[in-house]
Amino acid sequence: MRRCFATANIRQEQYNTNPQIELVRINDRSIKVRDDSRKWYDEVPDMWLRDNCQCNKCVHTATKQRLVETFDIPEEIHITSCVREGRNVKVKWSDGHDSIYDLGWLAASAHSKSAVSRQGLRELTFWTSSVGQNPPEVPYEEVMNSEKGVAQWLDRIRQYGFCYVDGCPPTPEATEKLLERIAFIRNTHYGGFWDFTSDLSSKDTAYTDIALGAHTDTTYFSDPAGLQLFHLLSHTDGSGGESLLVDGFAAADTLKKEDGYAYDTLSEVNVYSHASGNDGISIQPYRSFPVLNHDPEFENLLQVRWNNSDRAAIDLPLGDVEDWYAAARKWVRIINSPKNQYWEQLRPGRPLIFDNWRVLHGRAAFSGKRRLCGGYINRDDFISRYKMLNWGPEKTLQYLAVE
Ligand SMILES: [Fe+2]
Ligand SMILES: [Zn+2]
Repeated sequence: MRRCFATANIRQEQYNTNPQIELVRINDRSIKVRDDSRKWYDEVPDMWLRDNCQCNKCVHTATKQRLVETFDIPEEIHITSCVREGRNVKVKWSDGHDSIYDLGWLAASAHSKSAVSRQGLRELTFWTSSVGQNPPEVPYEEVMNSEKGVAQWLDRIRQYGFCYVDGCPPTPEATEKLLERIAFIRNTHYGGFWDFTSDLSSKDTAYTDIALGAHTDTTYFSDPAGLQLFHLLSHTDGSGGESLLVDGFAAADTLKKEDGYAYDTLSEVNVYSHASGNDGISIQPYRSFPVLNHDPEFENLLQVRWNNSDRAAIDLPLGDVEDWYAAARKWVRIINSPKNQYWEQLRPGRPLIFDNWRVLHGRAAFSGKRRLCGGYINRDDFISRYKMLNWGPEKTLQYLAVE
């Protein structure tokens, strides 16, 4: 059963950091853990526990990298003594090593696993066109002058999938520095930070003045860009060009409720994509991906990949593609529904950033001369910065081996 919500597995808060757990030796290869509610958890094999010793000989204090030579640990490694001391469990090993494990850590290792820590999950706010009445925004000064400001900015982006920054100087230099508050800017075959006036110097429809339907960017990369920022610097001698945002996760949720088969089809049928407009370049992902991508283990929705312009082959025998078209038609009806579309005219001084794995964007046709700048941030760098700023290093790094 696929879950549509990215929040389906938020269990991190449930970890009791000081549980009254009981360790029971179940055989000479593993222990079993039971907490104060008498609930039993998965068994913890000795080999795993020894390999994941958290002492400073086994894990580098600063980098959290494994130092222990795992495959030098004897295969028949086992616990010779195991003593509870306050919040810790002291373990002596048959290879002579001593380990101390925090009880909260040990309980977490024996819990059924959660994706929260790795994926940086938080509760999401789904939205429709009415989000325009009170869209998420943060003040430019706060983002530039404090880590707390960046934390809040990233938290808004994580919650809504987009956020404005209010009061940014309308220059490419200021915008680039703003984006670099999150992480380094991702380079692509179009360059890194971009600043352009509508012309056809890059051979992509994004650089023309025609209307663009709701889509996500860079579906042709194995790892599509995580964040995209747009800052309209000027628009002269014309009109139009309003920006469109659609909450792709909310749209997926609607599709799932309306037609589970269509949802599963878009979740299971892989589609290829390409970028071949520049001389000498044809970028294609290393494999095809579905429109709706789920975590294979937790089955929560992770990523929407929707770009009809860049779509290449559908990975089905040609005789079977009709189901995909029928499902995609329903998807398009949802993302094109006026009640799901949030339209806004971008303004100088008010950059817009959005999560390209969740939110689809588009643009109305325009006339005149438009100067826009922006750039991409990698997904992993975005989530890393989100977690480290909002949760702190201790909470983010505590469960590296166990979640
Ligand atoms: Fe785009
Ligand atoms: Zn150790």
